[in-house]
Amino acid sequence: MRTQVCIIGAGPAGLLLGHMLRAERIECVVIERRTPEYVLGRIRAGVLEQVTVGLMERLGLDARLKAEGLPHAGFNLADGERLIRIDMADLTGGKQVVVYGQTELTRDLMAAGEERGLDVVYAAQGTALHEVEGDAPYVTFTKDGAQHRIDCRFIIGCDGFHGPSRRAIPPGAGTEYQRDYPFGWLGIMADVPPCNHELIYANHERGFALASMRSETRSRYYIDVPLTERVEDWPDECLWDELAIRLGPDAAAHITRGPALEKSIAPLRSYVFAPMRHGSLLLCGDAAHIVPPTGAKGLNLAASDVHYAAEALAGYFKRHDAGAIGAYSDKALARVWKSERFSWSLTRLMHRFPEDGPFERAMQVAELDYIATSRAAQTSIAENYVGLPV
Ligand code: FAD
Ligand code: PHB
Repeated sequence: MRTQVCIIGAGPAGLLLGHMLRAERIECVVIERRTPEYVLGRIRAGVLEQVTVGLMERLGLDARLKAEGLPHAGFNLADGERLIRIDMADLTGGKQVVVYGQTELTRDLMAAGEERGLDVVYAAQGTALHEVEGDAPYVTFTKDGAQHRIDCRFIIGCDGFHGPSRRAIPPGAGTEYQRDYPFGWLGIMADVPPCNHELIYANHERGFALASMRSETRSRYYIDVPLTERVEDWPDECLWDELAIRLGPDAAAHITRGPALEKSIAPLRSYVFAPMRHGSLLLCGDAAHIVPPTGAKGLNLAASDVHYAAEALAGYFKRHDAGAIGAYSDKALARVWKSERFSWSLTRLMHRFPEDGPFERAMQVAELDYIATSRAAQTSIAENYVGLPV
């Protein structure tokens, strides 16, 4: 089989890119290791920046997002008794974020893929990339026992952190920047009303907590736990008790408890692989970088990467602009590094690190004091949280 672009991975990055290329009449095939049901079963991000919403809008895929997504004009940082509201809309000239689950976004992209004839191969095994350094790369995989080969001009690695794309780049051809954190986030999803109409990120002496949501009847909460702990160590009631302590008495009074629909632990990591292109292979989303979830940036960065990749591919195929592909990595990385910085600094501010002493805690208190009283500091947080321009 021959196509212009072979996309590996049908997460949000791969499906969004598939739709964008299709809109530009650039031929593409998307190869996914899992089944659609498995992909939709993964509970992940929940906050969309305007840039991400705008991309869905441009593709004409925002009907359900507009109808069911919850626009949020502000969010809160809690430190002990104190609650600092970041009024994003007021501080950024009216910008907001939209609370809409990654699962729902993926469901919309999948449904539209079927309607619009996007070519997605699910349950592909043993995907391998070949000849990525030349201008005639190809991808092989097996499906239902049969071997397949797709020849193309470009391969786009949208296959997440553990996928084969980044690993197809020879050692020495790129640099890995990495920081692991000494804790993970234990998340719980439950069909209960949220305890607050806006998100609350809490820094409590017992650790971090986040109150989030998916809708007015579905809540998503997180606490940080040492990496040695497992989901089985946290029966639902223990987790609800801990959330009530860490989120503080005001929020606790409004927490409705319910059985977990899902409970999982995700390790926290900052990671960048640079450059994000090697020959005819471009990396997008988690395949190239990971942010700790504190800034709600992972999914949104995948969307902005894909925007730059689609622009580069349109430049190459439509405008015969030879430099377009070469410019991709620098453009994407400029935005990636700013989101990495924001996610890292918010993680630092809102978590108790085991190695921290009284000095580090005093720095957190001083920074939170400064944020509470400075419109400039709040503006900086707000403009990063709503998303920097592409
Ligand atoms: P992915 O969503 O990982 O998609 C990659 C796709 O590639 C997958 O469908 C995978 O099956 C497929 N693939 C992998 N290997 C192969 C192969 N060999 N062949 C073919 N296909 C392959 N972000 C937030 O902002 N907030 C959160 O709360 C949050 N929670 C998270 C929890 C977890 C457990 C994880 C892993 C991530 C979380 N993130 C969160 C990050 C966010 O979900 C990601 O940044 C986002 O999913 C990135 O999208 P992507 O399309 O680049 O990668
Ligand atoms: C979520 O709702 O899953 C969520 C929200 C905000 C974050 C991370 C996760 O920063």
